[in-house]
Amino acid sequence: MDSKYMINSNGNSGLASVFPVKRKIEPMKEQNAIKKPNYTPPKQQQSPYKNNVLANNKRNSIDQDRKALPVYNCRQRILKEVEANDTLLIMGETGSGKTTQIPQFLLQAGYASNGIIGITQPRRVAAITIAKRVAQELSSNIGDTVGYTVRFEDTTTERTRIRYLTDGILLREAIGDRLLRKYAAIMLDEAHERTVNADVLFGIVKEAQQERRKHKMPKLKIIITSATMDIDHFGSYFNVKGMYLEGRTHPVRVMHAKEPQDDYIHAALVTLFDIHRHEPINHDVLIFLTGQEEIEALAQQIRQLARINNSGPSDVRVFTLYAQLAQGKQLECFLPVPANTRKIVLATNIAETSITIPGIRCVIDCGYVKEKSFNPSSGLDILKTVRISQAQAWQRSGRAGRDAPGKCYRTYTKNSMEFFRVAAQPEILRANLTSTVLQLLALGIDCTSFDFIDPPQQEGVQAAYKALEQLGAIKSATVPSITSSGRLMAQYPLDPRYAKLLLSAPTFGCMEEMLSLVAALSSDNVFIGHADKSELAALAHAKFQSKHGDHLTLLNVFTTFQKTEKPKIWCHDNFLNIRNLTYARNVRNQLAEISSRVGLVSNSCGDNSDAVKKCLLTGLFDNIAMLQKEGHYLTLSGRVKAKIHPSSVLHGKYKPQCILFTEMVKTEHNFLRQVTEISIEWIEEVVPSMKYIIK
Ligand code: CDP
Ligand code: MG
Repeated sequence: MDSKYMINSNGNSGLASVFPVKRKIEPMKEQNAIKKPNYTPPKQQQSPYKNNVLANNKRNSIDQDRKALPVYNCRQRILKEVEANDTLLIMGETGSGKTTQIPQFLLQAGYASNGIIGITQPRRVAAITIAKRVAQELSSNIGDTVGYTVRFEDTTTERTRIRYLTDGILLREAIGDRLLRKYAAIMLDEAHERTVNADVLFGIVKEAQQERRKHKMPKLKIIITSATMDIDHFGSYFNVKGMYLEGRTHPVRVMHAKEPQDDYIHAALVTLFDIHRHEPINHDVLIFLTGQEEIEALAQQIRQLARINNSGPSDVRVFTLYAQLAQGKQLECFLPVPANTRKIVLATNIAETSITIPGIRCVIDCGYVKEKSFNPSSGLDILKTVRISQAQAWQRSGRAGRDAPGKCYRTYTKNSMEFFRVAAQPEILRANLTSTVLQLLALGIDCTSFDFIDPPQQEGVQAAYKALEQLGAIKSATVPSITSSGRLMAQYPLDPRYAKLLLSAPTFGCMEEMLSLVAALSSDNVFIGHADKSELAALAHAKFQSKHGDHLTLLNVFTTFQKTEKPKIWCHDNFLNIRNLTYARNVRNQLAEISSRVGLVSNSCGDNSDAVKKCLLTGLFDNIAMLQKEGHYLTLSGRVKAKIHPSSVLHGKYKPQCILFTEMVKTEHNFLRQVTEISIEWIEEVVPSMKYIIK
């Protein structure tokens, strides 16, 4: 390892002493204490990506790009199969052109004359970037032939023929029309991701197709696509055969860390700079990490390190890519970088299959992913960092071999990989089903008899019924029939608990406040905490602080933002994220529109924060925790031990007896994020059914 990057002359970690990094890096005892993870040579390691066909020369026009895609050669075959079969399963390597090209083939073959072509994506970032790309390929603007619809944003018009949308949006549309009459063809993309919404959609589109056939209505063509699906399982569910697209990927040398790494982020950093010194400058690097926070922290660290050490002619450009990233930023990593510059992209699993970044020749895989899971016994959703599956590991390494032969560094040992799950578990088997069950009920579907590709566990369904009963969305957990208020909740593109907050708000006289608060909670973090300016940021944020806690603090920020005349300057001065606040403003407008459509009266409680706090209890009653003698909190339902998250305004202050929180995050401890003090007497008043567990 070249010492200039890693080790100071005093033997301490150069990283720790130069940069205020979030992660604690222990001082090193000896010079070589920090070393690059030792990777095993790739001799016996053969990735499945070894079919080296033509070298993919740098292409200079979009048109040439398209024709060079593997899917282009299969155009006739695909169209023939679509004509002959109403349902088609297509499996092809990531980057082969499935998502961007197949809809265009269908359009050109005339399939959009009787309806539109819809393509679902598990994530909004993919739906948006891909729609923009396809619009560009067709030399049109978003909203003309091609558009996208994601939660709180619809760019489609009556001219739109190809519509990229998230699976959640299509599911919501099905509530309005179970036969999905608007669509001539639906492509359910990234089928291997097996999100709950996608799993439900498999059943919905299958049924819509059958019903339309039965009633002699125009056909619904269904195409299921993925890079890595279990074709037998899908094939037997849809009763069709699969089609494989010939791949065009290059060999990837896969290397594993020789020893287990305690700190995968640090291991990735060291590996990156090793690559930077030894690999040709035009070999771009993709690093897989788990989420926004660590991606932004590492990106900053890399930029600073590169700046300090950049004495040669070469430079690095660091890009980040994750679901919550602002739209404009999402597209940046696709742009070419100047000569003599290395592109470094830090991404979550979104870059595994949904999005292909050109130029990547090296992949660093940390081996982890963030996964939301639900514990029916505690009733809580928990965001956990878990090991990826073996299938994901191979997808990640494959990203290095798209343009030319590549390398993949895994910061975990070969041995440990044998313990990874073979494939990721479908989300429906581990997720909170409250929202899904309500949507199914609104569709008139009984969850227990629905034709699922893999039925959810009974325990999860029961937990959802119980939650819906408590929210008043169904009559009772034993006879789950939807109530009128449940129908109203299903109108909102929100978790039923948040929809409930809006439905209760008029009673508490705080509709205006609740619209703002729910909108602000739907957006990502509005606070910016620059590591190098954290004191200034804290000072600026203190102005908005409410002694009641984070919800009212957030409300203060949003309300002031709404009033400010120069939002750009104001946000900059106050260390606030203008994109997220603008997003919240759009969300608020839409929620207000739905609320007035369903006939909720608008009122405001002014400074009466108790009204807001009581109202919060009507939806988030499962998220209450009580202070214990020992100083920690215990959640009321589920009895889980937890602490207030350090980002809370109540952190480190006096500890209220009773708090309400937005979510629980599990790292080394259970942390309660976004916390507000409440009064224990209110629980009985607002949620009488909770009475029995208070004592
Ligand atoms: O869906 P699949 O993984 O098979 O491929 P795709 O998403 O259709 O991507 C086909 C090609 O378009 C890839 O080589 C991408 O690099 C390129 N593309 C791009 O350059 N910019 C985008 N915004 C999207 C795709
Ligand atoms: Mg794709």
